[in-house]
Amino acid sequence: MRELKNLDWNNIGFQYRPCDKRYVAEYKDGAWGEGYLSDDPEVRINECAGILQYCQECFEGLKAYETANGEIVCFRPDLNAERMADSAEFLCMPPFPKERFLEALKETVTANLGFVPPYGSGASLYVRPYMFASGPVIGVKPSHEYIFRMIVMPVGPYFKGGAKPVALMVSDFDRAAPHGTGHIKAGLNYAMSMHAHEIAAHAGYAENLFLDPAERKYVEETGGANFYFISADGKTLVTPKSSSILPSITRRSILYVAEHMLGLKVEERKVELAELSDFSECGLCGTAAVISPVGEIDDHGRKIVFGKGMAEPGPVTTKLYDTLTGIQLGTIPAPEGWIFKVA
Ligand code: PLP
Ligand code: COI
Repeated sequence: MRELKNLDWNNIGFQYRPCDKRYVAEYKDGAWGEGYLSDDPEVRINECAGILQYCQECFEGLKAYETANGEIVCFRPDLNAERMADSAEFLCMPPFPKERFLEALKETVTANLGFVPPYGSGASLYVRPYMFASGPVIGVKPSHEYIFRMIVMPVGPYFKGGAKPVALMVSDFDRAAPHGTGHIKAGLNYAMSMHAHEIAAHAGYAENLFLDPAERKYVEETGGANFYFISADGKTLVTPKSSSILPSITRRSILYVAEHMLGLKVEERKVELAELSDFSECGLCGTAAVISPVGEIDDHGRKIVFGKGMAEPGPVTTKLYDTLTGIQLGTIPAPEGWIFKVA
């Protein structure tokens, strides 16, 4: 039996909380050193480290859950390991090997078992692997030294109000460039989105809808999640296709769930802002966002309302949410290879 920490599991919010242990590995002299678990939440680096000067950093986000039968599992972490390696390569950083990523995940979650929220609490253990240039650079070039860390923290829903619909606004800013870094999980993309996010938050919106940066005609994603839309007849799920959005693991998973488990048609294609009012439902999908219904989108004063708007989520969104979380929590059988057992 694991000994649970004494936390108010139903009200923990989405915030940083230092846990007992974090995994650390250092890259020096052309190789990754042996990793270890550390008690120290502080990081000490050179004042000219590449991360501090030129933002050479990438990260991931995944979750560990207690299932209905008391196991501790993660959802498709192999895909996080692969995406992190892709992000690292694009930023000229040495990828952290996939097998080591999965071992580190097992070690880190096992060392913090008391922080994994109990089944039924609606919370989960958020895992944040990240990697950054720790060696000094002053000319613009890749560092020779890097640090990989994996930290964990228990979290509740990302959006206030949990599964209630959120309202978005169409941003006048772009989060990524047409042939830039939008497809990788680099901290610099999130720095790019913060100015726009503050504007949206001050105006009372949960997030921005970013448009494609080349033509400003197609829907991209929000600052931290991908979109899906449901056709007016409720039979087709559509997700935006773009080379400048993050390839969300949750989106890839719900495309499968929609097609193979819920009997929907699925389409991955460019989605025009001008066609949004044709859809009956809109939602956000992501590790932190899970499945979050979108009630309305404000396009410079023109309101696009989906289904019952802010009152309640649509029926397909509810089915997607129940199926995805059922798979993650072990109450619905998972497709082969989706569940990674930690303990
Ligand atoms: N898009 C952005 C910009 C994100 O930060 C995230 C979160 O990871 C996602 C989409 C969703 O991706 P995933 O489902 O892999 O968590
Ligand atoms: C995640 O969903 O894991 C993310 O990294 C998104 C972020 C906005 C918290």
